[in-house]
Amino acid sequence: MVKLAVIHYSQTGNVYEMAKTAAREGEEAGAEVRFRKVAELAPPEAIASNEAWSNHHGSTGHVQEATLDDLDWADAVMWGSPTRYGLPTSQLKQFIDITGPLWQEGKLVDKVMSSFTSTQTSHGGQESTILALNNTFYHWGAIIVSPGYTDPLQFDLEIGNPYGASHIGGKGPVGEKTRTAIGIQTRRVVDVARRLGGG
Ligand SMILES: Cc1cc2nc3c(=O)[nH]c(=O)nc-3n(C[C@H](O)[C@H](O)[C@H](O)COP(=O)(O)O)c2cc1C
Repeated sequence: MVKLAVIHYSQTGNVYEMAKTAAREGEEAGAEVRFRKVAELAPPEAIASNEAWSNHHGSTGHVQEATLDDLDWADAVMWGSPTRYGLPTSQLKQFIDITGPLWQEGKLVDKVMSSFTSTQTSHGGQESTILALNNTFYHWGAIIVSPGYTDPLQFDLEIGNPYGASHIGGKGPVGEKTRTAIGIQTRRVVDVARRLGGG
C-alpha cells in the first residue's frame, strides 16, 4: 500500500478542506493516509483578533500535528498552504526547516512531493507559492509530481492549474471543482508513488 502523508497549514479553513479532500481521495486510490496539520506559530492575540482564524483554530484541535516520522514513513507527501504575499506560510516553512536530519541521512530522496494552495485572488500568487515549495524538494532529491494537463478539468479557465490544485477563496468556499482538481492531483501522486515501488 502506498503511504501518503497530507501535511497542511490553514488559517481559515480553505486549505484544510482541500487537505481533507486529498486525504479522502488518497484512501479511495488505495493509499494508507496520514492527515496532519503543522503547528500554529502565531501569537494568541493575533488569532483572537480574527474570528474566522479563531474559529478554525478552535475547531481543529483534534487534528494531529506532523512529525518527522510522518515524512520518514511516507512514500508521497502532499503539502497544502495558503498563499502569503506570494509565498507559503511560515508555519509550513517552520516544519520544513526542521527536516535537516532526514535530509542529511538521504531519507527524503525519491519520495514523491506535490503541493496545493489557496489564495484570495486569481492572480494572487498560486504558482509562486507552489514553486517556492518545490525549491525545497529539489534539495531533497525528491520527485515532484504536478497534475499538469492530465485531465480535461485542467483546461477549465477558472480552476485548471498544472502546478497544483489552487482555490480562489475570494470566489467562495471550497466547492466541487476545487475538490475535483485535488482528486486529479492526489490520484496522480498515488499512481506515480506506486509505480516507483511505494507500497
Ligand atoms: C498575511 C496574509 C498574506 C496574504 N497574501 C496573499 C497573497 O499574496 N495573495 C492572495 O491572493 N491572497 C493572500 N492572502 C489570502 C489567503 O491566501 C487566502 O485567504 C487563503 O484562501 C486562505 O486560506 P486558508 O483559509 O486555508 O487559511 C493573504 C492572507 C494573509 C493573512
